[in-house]
Amino acid sequence: MSITILGIESSCDDTSAAVIRDGILLSNVIASQKVHEEYGGVVPELASRAHQQNIVPVVDTALKRAGIDKHQLSAIAFTRGPGLLGSLLVGTSFAKGLSLGLDVPIIDVNHLHGHVLSHYIKHTEDDNVPEFPYICLLISGGNSQIILVKSPSDMEVLGQTIDDAAGEAFDKCAKVMGLPYPGGPHIDRLAAEGDCRKFRFARPRIPGLNYSFSGLKTSFLYTLRDNIKIDPEFIEHNKADLAASLQYTIIAILLDKLSKAVEQTGVKTVAIGGGVSANSGVRAAIADYCAKEHLKAFIPERSFTTDNAAMVAIAGYFKYLDNSFCDYDAAPYARVTV
Ligand code: KG4
Repeated sequence: MSITILGIESSCDDTSAAVIRDGILLSNVIASQKVHEEYGGVVPELASRAHQQNIVPVVDTALKRAGIDKHQLSAIAFTRGPGLLGSLLVGTSFAKGLSLGLDVPIIDVNHLHGHVLSHYIKHTEDDNVPEFPYICLLISGGNSQIILVKSPSDMEVLGQTIDDAAGEAFDKCAKVMGLPYPGGPHIDRLAAEGDCRKFRFARPRIPGLNYSFSGLKTSFLYTLRDNIKIDPEFIEHNKADLAASLQYTIIAILLDKLSKAVEQTGVKTVAIGGGVSANSGVRAAIADYCAKEHLKAFIPERSFTTDNAAMVAIAGYFKYLDNSFCDYDAAPYARVTV
C-alpha cells in the first residue's frame, strides 16, 4: 500500500504545503509573505496573521495539484520548530485539527532535519539520493552547522557557529551597504560582477569544527567606515567588489571547516542545505571542492533551499516508516538543534 504524506511548513514567513507519495513529490505550494518587505525583516505578529489567511488555500491547492483526495492521506507532518512561535502555532494547530477530522496520525518534524533530508525528495524513481553516512553543511539565516547524517533519525552536529550564522553575515553586511533585507541574494547578484580579491576581511582562528562570523562582520564594517572618511561615495563606487570579496571570504570560512570535517570522518558524500545554499558562489565552490577531492556532491534545487513543505513531508515520510508519530499535546518549540 502506498504512503501519502501531507507536509505543512509555517516556521517563519512562508506558508507551505506539499504532498509526497512513497518518496515522490506530487505537489509543493508556497505562499510567501510580502507584508514584511517595508519593515526590513520579518514581523512575527504579521507573519502569524498571514499564515492564518494562507493555510487553508495553500493546503487545498497542494492536495488539488497532487491530484489526491484528503481521505487518501496516510499522515500529516508539520514543522514543530525551530521558528517563530506564533507562526509555528498556526501550522501545528491546523495539522492537529485536520488529523482529527481525517482520523490519520500526525508527525512532528524538526525543520532542520527537513533541510538535511531535502536531498531525498524525488521527482522520479530514478533520481539520485545520498547514501548514509554523509556530511551536510546546513547554512541559513539562523544556523551554520556541519552535520554527520548517519540515518534519517541519527544526526550528529560536528561543528556549529559560536556567534552569527552565515546568512546573518550576508544580511548584516548587506544592510550596512544599504541593500534591502534579506541581503544575501543581493550580495550574490552583485558579487557576480565584482573582483573577489579587491578587499580582504578577517577570518576566524578558532580551533575545532566550529564557525564564527562576527569578526568578519566587524572587519567589513571597519573597512567601510575607514574608507568612507576618504571617499564618502566609497560604497557606491565599490559595491560589486565589496560583495564579491565578502562572499569569497564567507565561502573560504565555510570550506575550511567543512574540509576538515571530511578529513576527520573519511565520509565520501557532501550535501548542502538551507537558505545560503542558494548562493551561486557557495554552490560552485562546493561542486569544485567535491570534484577535486573525489567526493559525491549533493546540491539542492533552489526551490528546496528556502523554507518549503516538501522537505517537511520527506522528513515526515521517514518518521512514518519508523512508526514515529506524535501526540496531540505536542507544543511547538521556538528553539531546538538538530
Ligand atoms: O533557510 P532560510 O530561508 O531561513 C532562515 O534560516 O531564516 O535562510 C534565509 C537566509 C537569509 O540569511 C538569506 O539572506 C540567505 O538565506 N540567502 C542567501 C541567498 N538566498 C538566501 N544568501 C546568500 N546568497 C543567496 N543567493
